[in-house]
Amino acid sequence: MNRKQPLLVVATLIFMISCTESKKGSERLKYVEEPHSYAQPNEAVITHLNLDIDVNFESEVISGSASYTIDNNDASQIILDTKNLVIEKVQADGKDTKFSLGAYDESLGQPLNIKINGSTKNITVFYQTTSKTEAVQWLNPQQTADKTQPFLFTQGQAILTRTWIPIQDSPQIRITYDATVRVPKELMAVMSAENPKVKSPNGEYRFKMVQKIPPYLMALAVGDIAYKAVSNRTGVYAENSMVDAVQEEFSEMENMLVEAEKLYGKYAWDQFDVIVLPPSFPFGGMENPRLTFATPTLIAGDKSLTSVIAHELAHSWSGNLVTNTTWDDFWLNEGFTVYFENRIMEALYGKDRANMLGLIARQDLDEEIEGFKETPEKTHLKLDLKGHNPDDGMNSIAYDKGFLFLKTLEETVGRDKFDIFLKNYFQSNAFTTITTEKFIVYLNENLLDKHSIQFNTDEWVYNPGIPSNAFEIKSDKFENVSNTIKEIVTTNKVNADVAKDWTTQEWVYFIRNFPTDITPSQMALIDNAFDLTNSKNSHKAMVWYEQSINHNYKGNNVEVKIEEFLTRVGRRWYVSTLYKAFANADKVDKGMEIYKKARPNYHSVTANTIDDILGYKK
Ligand code: BES
Ligand code: ZN
Repeated sequence: MNRKQPLLVVATLIFMISCTESKKGSERLKYVEEPHSYAQPNEAVITHLNLDIDVNFESEVISGSASYTIDNNDASQIILDTKNLVIEKVQADGKDTKFSLGAYDESLGQPLNIKINGSTKNITVFYQTTSKTEAVQWLNPQQTADKTQPFLFTQGQAILTRTWIPIQDSPQIRITYDATVRVPKELMAVMSAENPKVKSPNGEYRFKMVQKIPPYLMALAVGDIAYKAVSNRTGVYAENSMVDAVQEEFSEMENMLVEAEKLYGKYAWDQFDVIVLPPSFPFGGMENPRLTFATPTLIAGDKSLTSVIAHELAHSWSGNLVTNTTWDDFWLNEGFTVYFENRIMEALYGKDRANMLGLIARQDLDEEIEGFKETPEKTHLKLDLKGHNPDDGMNSIAYDKGFLFLKTLEETVGRDKFDIFLKNYFQSNAFTTITTEKFIVYLNENLLDKHSIQFNTDEWVYNPGIPSNAFEIKSDKFENVSNTIKEIVTTNKVNADVAKDWTTQEWVYFIRNFPTDITPSQMALIDNAFDLTNSKNSHKAMVWYEQSINHNYKGNNVEVKIEEFLTRVGRRWYVSTLYKAFANADKVDKGMEIYKKARPNYHSVTANTIDDILGYKK
């Protein structure tokens, strides 16, 4: 041992020199300080993951190993993020190595410090999830559409991937991955990767993601699902009883993709599929690359809610290709995506539809800003989420103020210039991350200064509220709807004919803009004309339920419907709107009574939000 050491030292030295030679300081990416990850990527950073896991539905545990190739800047340790995982063993280049878990933080979890040396190229963590693993929701058969097999899905954004995989969980880090996943043989596994189209005979699945993605886009779903193609590069996964309806509902996916590519360049991820999950899925959609995860509440039967698919598709550029560097820059993901979604919808359905979507966004934004009267800093585009859970910054400001900023820019510089600018922006920043500050420099260089255009960018980004130059979105369609509302409340008569061609947007605008003094009997009149309590369109139903709570409307057993909706659906935006309505209408007790029954069906991200709204103590 002793005799060999000098040789070893020399060999290590030579190796280290050759490593630093091959990666000179300037070549190495500089990562910024960020408050939501313990990782120190400037010392050692993961570049590729090889995941090997077993999914056990009996014990509700995922177990196995996460093996990483690392880019090592002569480090003596590498730090991963973990939360509520059992770490069994860690290896560096195939040999057991020392590791320790740091102090536990309620939202960040624990740093996993792994001892390495300057030449370590690979680390492997053997681990298991626990009952506290927040990303994963284990569903029993009763919580699925077909009611015969269990189901599982993960949700990584913003900082939950660390709860099912030990990882450097920062959006500025990008990795490729391979995975081997073993599941019960009745079930199929799919990931944010190249996916199977049929079940494997033994329940083992192998995945490959060859494009670099940030860790929050790691995703897994397991269930008794089937695949149907929509085109040669788009398709849907869903449970058997739904898959045909889903294929029909999303039949425009290819058209959306064609329009999106015309706008901002080639789709970078080869395949675009959507999986429709059980109704407890906490989002309308989640843009996991190659495989968007979606709520079944989009399946209205008439393709009326597909703007969510346009939104998730748009993330294939804004978010997945060009990613926010930190969660303080979240508006770069969502604001661009709402803008892009709007453009796709305009290309497919025309300006009227885009204006309506834009005006709904504007109304949501005004409401959100009103709600943040006491905390105007929360209405900045660039956030300061240090010391907070990033979820706190995930509200309409990033989405709708971000959208309005870009819409205003478009109107100021002209669509032609703006489209060229955006296309180049996506192309020149592809597979990298961007901070708000870097974006502003890029904007000035490539659009504003270039064409000598004055614009109050800083005011939009760093100041509260909405600047006075905001583009005013107008919609003739909504003016007609406003007139219909006036007529109903002044005459107490409803002419159902006026609404026969209304889109979901018109319905939502109609319902949300009732006068504050509308009476329960006027609500009954409207309900009897349009049967809103029994609407099959989840968005229409949700805003109708909200107004029923606000205005004490109890006709047509709407209260039973609301309870049924809240116990079945876990889509955070929908259910939080309804629980907030209970809270604001002095009906917290009623809300709490329903929540106690509904909570076991909710994914942790929804439960956490509703706990806060109602003051629920775990
Ligand atoms: N990426 C988001 C979902 C998300 C946001 C997950 C923040 C975790 C933290 C997704 O693209 C999204 O915005 N979904 C929306 C739909 C959209 C049409 C506004 C949703 O779920 O409602
Ligand atoms: Zn989004």
